[in-house]
Amino acid sequence: MTTPRFSPTDVTVVFFLGGPGSGKGTQSANLVSSYGFVHLSAGDLLRAEQERTGSQYGDMIREYIREGKIVPMEVTVALLSNAMADSLASSPPPAGTKARFLIDGFPRKLDQAHFFEDTVCPSELVLFLDCPEDVMEARLLKRGETSGRADDNAESIRKRFRTFVETSMPVVEYFRKKDRVVEVRADIPIEEVFAKVQAGIEARNIHRR
Ligand code: ADP
Ligand code: C5P
Ligand code: MG
Repeated sequence: MTTPRFSPTDVTVVFFLGGPGSGKGTQSANLVSSYGFVHLSAGDLLRAEQERTGSQYGDMIREYIREGKIVPMEVTVALLSNAMADSLASSPPPAGTKARFLIDGFPRKLDQAHFFEDTVCPSELVLFLDCPEDVMEARLLKRGETSGRADDNAESIRKRFRTFVETSMPVVEYFRKKDRVVEVRADIPIEEVFAKVQAGIEARNIHRR
């Protein structure tokens, strides 16, 4: 048995899942301002690592992202674990309170879920944004006009949807069986999605932990 690096008595971890373009990044900003979550996006961390001078993983990450495939979990989990440690060191939570981490776009595959919970920290809750593919596709194509992302194009989007259905939905199902999922439909205006997300967070008492 390994002991996780962080204890749930010190930190609260909420995983944030949903298809590409379902609105995770958008809602994360709301969750940060309303509940003081520290937002860590696995995709953002991978893109930063890809650009980091001297990274041995840059080319590999670039290839996986363009193909919409899941980067080997050791890389992503190490980036998240180190980002949590950096955040706790640079802006520790007030005495007597727990740090709250919102981990966006993770775990996208069951092996990531198990490895993270065994070695980094068990999670409290999974927020899941449910959105039809045609809505997500339209959003991503629009985002692609300005995002500069190599995967916001029709071909990569198709591959990302496939990975989401085949590889990431089983993660949602796994946590659903444990009754740890708050599911919110996401094909409605941003404020309405957020109202439902808030209701879910508060029903599970995450804001009081
Ligand atoms: P994700 O992080 O899940 O891939 P984003 O938060 O980046 O998704 O959202 C994808 C795009 O859709 C962005 O351009 C965002 O502005 C837009 N968007 C997000 N939520 C909504 C919504 N509820 N209604 C309409 N557009 C949205
Ligand atoms: O979440 P985001 O859309 O920013 O992720 C972009 C890409 O980063 C994914 O399509 C995938 O290639 C990679 N990724 C991953 N593992 C994660 C999160 C993202 O491999 N947990
Ligand atoms: Mg995002």
